[in-house]
Amino acid sequence: MSTLSRRQLLSGAGALATLAWSGHSLAACARARPRFSDHPFKLGVASGDPRADSVVLWTRLAPDPLAREGGMGADPVTVGWEVATDERMQHVVQKGTVAATADLAHSVHVEVQGLEPARWYWYRFYSGDEMSSVARTRTAPGPGTQPERLRFAFASCQHWEFGRYAAYHHMLADELDLVVHLGDYIYETSARNPPVRRHDLPEATDLEGYRRRYALYKSDADLQAAHAAHPWIVTWDDHEVSNDYASDRSERRDALQDFLRRRAGAYQAYYEHMPLRRSTLPHGPDMRLYRDVSWGGLADFFVLDGRQYRAVQPCGEGRRGGGQLVANCAKRLDPAQTRLGAAQERWLFDGLGRVRSRWTVLAQQQLMAQLRQRNRAGAEAYWTDGWDGYAAARQRVLAEIRDRRVPNPVVIGGDIHSFWVTDLKVDFDAAPVVATEFVGTSISSPGVPYETFARALPDNPHVRFFDSRPRGYVRCTVTPERWLTELRALDNPADPRSAIGTLASFVVESGRPGAQRA
Ligand SMILES: [Fe+2]
Repeated sequence: MSTLSRRQLLSGAGALATLAWSGHSLAACARARPRFSDHPFKLGVASGDPRADSVVLWTRLAPDPLAREGGMGADPVTVGWEVATDERMQHVVQKGTVAATADLAHSVHVEVQGLEPARWYWYRFYSGDEMSSVARTRTAPGPGTQPERLRFAFASCQHWEFGRYAAYHHMLADELDLVVHLGDYIYETSARNPPVRRHDLPEATDLEGYRRRYALYKSDADLQAAHAAHPWIVTWDDHEVSNDYASDRSERRDALQDFLRRRAGAYQAYYEHMPLRRSTLPHGPDMRLYRDVSWGGLADFFVLDGRQYRAVQPCGEGRRGGGQLVANCAKRLDPAQTRLGAAQERWLFDGLGRVRSRWTVLAQQQLMAQLRQRNRAGAEAYWTDGWDGYAAARQRVLAEIRDRRVPNPVVIGGDIHSFWVTDLKVDFDAAPVVATEFVGTSISSPGVPYETFARALPDNPHVRFFDSRPRGYVRCTVTPERWLTELRALDNPADPRSAIGTLASFVVESGRPGAQRA
C-alpha cells in the first residue's frame, strides 16, 4: 500500500477497485519504476462501455507484442492513469495507479467513476519513464435526459490478412460518439494464400496463441486510432474462439474438455484486450459478456452473446458440426433450440419490458431475418449457424418486442460479410413489421458470393437491401424522431487510404418500424 498516497487512493476509484481485486500485497510489490526493453504502449489504448458517470480505460503493456508475455516477464508493474477535460492534459480531473499483472497479460482495465455526463474526456497511461499517447473518450448522457443526437458506427469481421483497416481511418472524420463492434475482431485461423498481408502465426488454440493474435491485430495503426478517438462497445462472434462453435461444441467436434480449455484461453485473451468492465472478467470457460448500455433517453443498447449459450446447430447429425445449408430440418423450429440460453433470454425480455428510451437497439452477431435459400437440388433450405437454425428462439424475441410494445426496435448485426436491410416479423410470410434490421458488411473479410444471395431475394420479400460486394461499415445518426443509416463502402479494401462512399441510405421514422430508402 505504501506505493500509493492517501490522496491518490481517494481520487482513484478505479485504483481502489483494482487493489481490492488484485490484493494489497500485489500492488505493494509491483515495480513502481520499471525498465522496459522498448516502448510498452505499442498496442495503443482504448475506452469502452460508457455510462453517464463512468467509462472503462484500457491498455496492455507489451514492449515486444508478439513475444511470450509481450516482452514483459512475470513481475507486476505499476501503471498510472490520468483523465483530463482537455486534449493537452492540463486539467486533470481524475488519476490513479493500478497493478498490471502477468496473469492478465499486463492488461489494465480502469473503471473511472465520478465523471460528468455527456462530455468528452482525454486520458493517458504512464509507467516508469514511458507514457502512452493521449486518447479521447466520452460519457453517456444522463438518465432521463433527451440528447439531440447520437452518432455511432458499427463494424465486424476484420480478417487481418484480407484487407487493411481503411474503414477505421474514415470513422475518424465521422464525428462519432461511439463505435460498436459485433464480432470477428480477430480470426483464429490464417488464409492459405493471404491476398493483402501475411503473418507467420499458427492457428490460435490456447491463451498464448490468442494473446499473440490480438497483439498482431492491435498493432494496426488505423485500428488503434479508432479506439483512441471514441469509446467502443464490443461483443464477439465465433472467430474470437473458433469457426461456428456452439457453446461447448467446436465445429471439429473436439473432446469437450479440450474445447472448453481452448474457449477459456480465448475468452481470457478477449477480456485482456478489450475495454470491458471487471464484471465481465471470465471464470474459466465462462464469461458474462451480455449487458446493456444506455444513451440517456435516446437509445438503450442490449449487447447480446449469441455463441456461449446456444444449442448446437440443428440437423448436422452424422456430419461435422457448424453451419450447414439444410433442407427439411424440423429441428430448427424446435423451441428447445435456444440461441441466447435461458438466463440471457430472461434478462433480455425483462430489460425490453423496462425500456423508456426512444430507440431500442439489439447489438448482436448475425443476420436475424429469415433467409430462405435453395440447396443444389433446388429445395428450400436454411443456414443453420444463423438465426434460421434457431427459428423459434428468434420468434420468441420478436413476439416479445411486439407484445411489450418495445419502443422503436432496431437490430444491428454482422457475420455475413455483406450489407442487409430487412423488415423483421414474428411470421416472415405475414404482416406486420415488428422491428428494423441493419447488417453491416465486413471491415476486411471476403464477401459472400453476390449472385447466390441475389438469386434468393425474390423468396425473401422482407429483405429491402442486400449487397455483398463492398467492404466497409455502417454509420447511424439517431435523433428522437428519426434514425438514419448510411452503408459506407470502400473502393479498395487492400488500400489503407482507400476512398469511401455511401452505397445507400435508409431512414426509420420513430413510431414506424421498417427502413425507408432515403
Ligand atoms: Fe466473419
